[in-house]
Amino acid sequence: MAITIAVTKEPGESRVALVPAVVKRLTASGDSIVRMERGAGQRAGHADQDYADAGAVLVEQGAHRDADLVLQVAAPTAGVVAELREGSILVGFLNPLDALLQALCARRITAIAMERIPRSSRAQAMDALSSQRSIAGYRAVLIAASRYGRFLPMLTVPTGTVRPATLLVIGAGVSGLQAIATARRLGAIVEATDVRPESREQVESLGGRFLSAEIEAGAAGGYARELSDTERAAQQQLLARHVAHANLIITTAEIPGRTAPRIVSAAMVESMASGSVLVDLAAASGGNCELTRPGEEHEHQGVRICGPRNAAAEMPAQASELYALNLQHLLGLLIKDGAVAPDWQDDILAAACVCRDGEEST
Ligand code: NAI
Repeated sequence: MAITIAVTKEPGESRVALVPAVVKRLTASGDSIVRMERGAGQRAGHADQDYADAGAVLVEQGAHRDADLVLQVAAPTAGVVAELREGSILVGFLNPLDALLQALCARRITAIAMERIPRSSRAQAMDALSSQRSIAGYRAVLIAASRYGRFLPMLTVPTGTVRPATLLVIGAGVSGLQAIATARRLGAIVEATDVRPESREQVESLGGRFLSAEIEAGAAGGYARELSDTERAAQQQLLARHVAHANLIITTAEIPGRTAPRIVSAAMVESMASGSVLVDLAAASGGNCELTRPGEEHEHQGVRICGPRNAAAEMPAQASELYALNLQHLLGLLIKDGAVAPDWQDDILAAACVCRDGEEST
C-alpha cells in the first residue's frame, strides 16, 4: 500500500512544508501519495493547481487524519495532534516542545524535531535550522538597509564622496555569517564578534573584521555556552566603542535551550548616532538588546530597533523551498523500498526523535 504523506495549512505560518517540485519527486515512483490541504502553499507563492499538477491529492482540510507521515513547518495545533493516527510520524519544528510532548506521547505518535537534527556534515542536507537561519541573516541585512536612510557602499557622487556604512554583527553563526556576506555585497564595512574563536577565520574569509574579546566559550555540538561575569565584562568593554560607531547592528547570539544573552544595553544604543538601526534576530528567545520588543519595531532616541520573531518566514517562498528540500532528504532516512522503515540506530534520527510510539526519547 502507498505511503500517505500529509501537509496541513498551518495557521499563522507563511511557509509550507512541501513545494510542488519536491511533491513531484516524492510521488514519482508511485510509492507515496502526498495529501495537501487547499491553500497550504498560497503564502509561499504556490497555488493549489501547482500541487495538483505535481501529483498531490488536494483536500479541503484534515489532511493529517490517517496519514502515515505528517510534515509541518511549525508545531501542530492541539486540534491536529488530537486527530493524528496512532503510530504515525510527525516531522517539524516542534518548539515549544515541552508543551507538546505529553500530548504526542498520549497519542502514541513518533515525532521528529527539526531543531534537533545534528549540525554534522552528514546531516547538512537536512539541517533546517541552518537553511532557515541563513535566510534570516540575509533578511536582517535587507531590513536594516531598508530602515537606514543612507547608502551602504562608498560612492563617489558629483558633490563628493559618500562614506560607507559600518555594520556590526554580534554572533557569527549561520545567520551572522550570511548577514556578513550580504552586507559586504551591499558595500558596507563589516565588523563581527563571536565567543567561539573558530569563527574568526569564517568572518575574515567573508571580508569582515573580527573583534575579539579573547573569549573561548565553545560548547558541545559547535554551540556557545553562557559567559562568566568576567567574560561578559570583557565583551561589554570591547563592544561599547564599536556599537557607538556602528550605523547598523545585527545581533544573532543564542544559547540552545536558554534565553538569549543580553549583550547590547540601553546605554550602548543611546551612544549610537540618530538614524542608526539595530535588527535583533534573537528577539523570539528574549533578544540580545535590552530594548528589543519581540515582534515589533520602534525607535529609541533616534535608533530604530527591529525585533522580528521569525525573519526567515518573511521570505516564505525561499524558506519553504529550502525547508522542503531538507524534508526530502530526511524522508530518505524514513522511507525504504516504498515502506516507512526508519533505522532508529541512525545517529541523525536518534538525535532528532523526541518521542517514539508514545515513549519520550529526550
Ligand atoms: P546559534 O544560533 O546557536 O548562535 C548564533 C551565534 O551566536 C553562534 O555563532 C554563537 O557562538 C554566538 N554566540 C552565542 N552566545 C554569544 C555571546 N554571548 N556573544 C557573542 N556571540 C555569541 O548558532 P548557529 O548559527 O545555529 O550555529 C551553531 C553552530 O553550529 C556553529 O558553530 C556552526 O558553525 C555550527 N554548524 C555546523 C554545521 C555543519 O558542520 N554542517 C552546519 C551549521 C552550523
